[in-house]
Amino acid sequence: MQTDASSAFGINRDRLLARLDELGAVGKDPAGGRTRHALTLEDREARDLIVGWFRQAKARVCVDRIGNIYGVLGGELDERPVMIGSHIDTVTCAGALDGCYGVIAGIEVLQALSENPLLRPQRIAVAAFTNEEGVRFAPDLLGSRVLARDMDIEDALATCSRAGVTVGQELKRIGYAGEMPPWELLPRAFLELHIEQGPVLDAERVPLGIVESVQGHSWWQIEIAGTANHAGTTPMHMRRDAGMAAMTLATHAVLRAADGVGPNVGTIGTIAFEPNAINVVPGRATFTIDFRDCRDEMLVHAEQWLQEALRELRLAGFSTLARCLSRHAPVHFDQGICAMLEDLAAELGLVTRRMRSGASHDAQMLARVCPTAMIFVPSRGGISHNPQEHTDPDALFVGAHLLLHATLRLAHNAGDSR
Ligand code: HGY
Ligand code: MN
Ligand code: MN
Repeated sequence: MQTDASSAFGINRDRLLARLDELGAVGKDPAGGRTRHALTLEDREARDLIVGWFRQAKARVCVDRIGNIYGVLGGELDERPVMIGSHIDTVTCAGALDGCYGVIAGIEVLQALSENPLLRPQRIAVAAFTNEEGVRFAPDLLGSRVLARDMDIEDALATCSRAGVTVGQELKRIGYAGEMPPWELLPRAFLELHIEQGPVLDAERVPLGIVESVQGHSWWQIEIAGTANHAGTTPMHMRRDAGMAAMTLATHAVLRAADGVGPNVGTIGTIAFEPNAINVVPGRATFTIDFRDCRDEMLVHAEQWLQEALRELRLAGFSTLARCLSRHAPVHFDQGICAMLEDLAAELGLVTRRMRSGASHDAQMLARVCPTAMIFVPSRGGISHNPQEHTDPDALFVGAHLLLHATLRLAHNAGDSR
């Protein structure tokens, strides 16, 4: 017989959806998306919202030195928590769900637990990690990287944006320069709920993905310097056109992926010419390359191809600069947790399929310190990093429902998950 408390136990669907809308309105831009680059005032506004919701869930709020925000419930002070969570910073002109869904669903889990005294789970922590996207500060996954000791905290705080401000300065400016050492809340298991951001679940009409791995990525910023010159008077054979050199290399980088001879995917997300005038042959060009593949050797091969292409440009009289912004080998998640998720979903009558993540996630950093896995819900048309990003409300609820029960199961038998 269920008592009132246990019968009321569960994710509050309306509150989950309302909070996604409320957070999605922060940093709204005219194109209908939202832009909350890490440690901007828009990010601060979102952070403040999250902290308020943690408090409503009666969670203890802590902020560490890299600005990761945690809501903690239950357990003893020195107990390593079961951790769930994601990020709330965004790319430019983003959708409303990327990262935010995992944090807000995590807060729903805390709220469900704190409203039900019948449940005395071990310590549960929900994380909102700093600078997952890596748009304003490189590298990406900064907050989870520091937690996983993949980057020294002082180096992370000294990381500079293109505008010349450091992570440490910006954390202070927005009031999120916490004092807690980043690994104080080292989890004993981590689970991230996220939208797929790709086409698989939607195309197959499967409501839930059990994510077994994340493909690796290799991000580069390339600068090519030639000679600015007059667009009308400079004969073609006398030019050192940095714009043409950049566009040619960038095009080859993408076509090699498209033709199946390069990595799985290749993207040129940014490109800029100097002096950037219609009648001036570009003297300098700067662009970024995002290579991804589930085979590390293909990323290594792409990096070797890039270095060779830059060497040929130098032989042709250009100067080149290549800076690696981020490099992740492919990551495999904990098979014990994946199996637990599959069994639990079946018990709850939910259909799932195992899959790989094409996108990067904080979970790939957490996998270095504890048993980790992810749950995906479908993205309509596979669209993401776009204001059109959308997941059916029922699917959002079902994902959060699975997260709640999986968190409880991890909290009660975290030791068996490996
Ligand atoms: O780039 C990514 O895959 C993630 O959205 N940060
Ligand atoms: Mn994300
Ligand atoms: Mn993203």
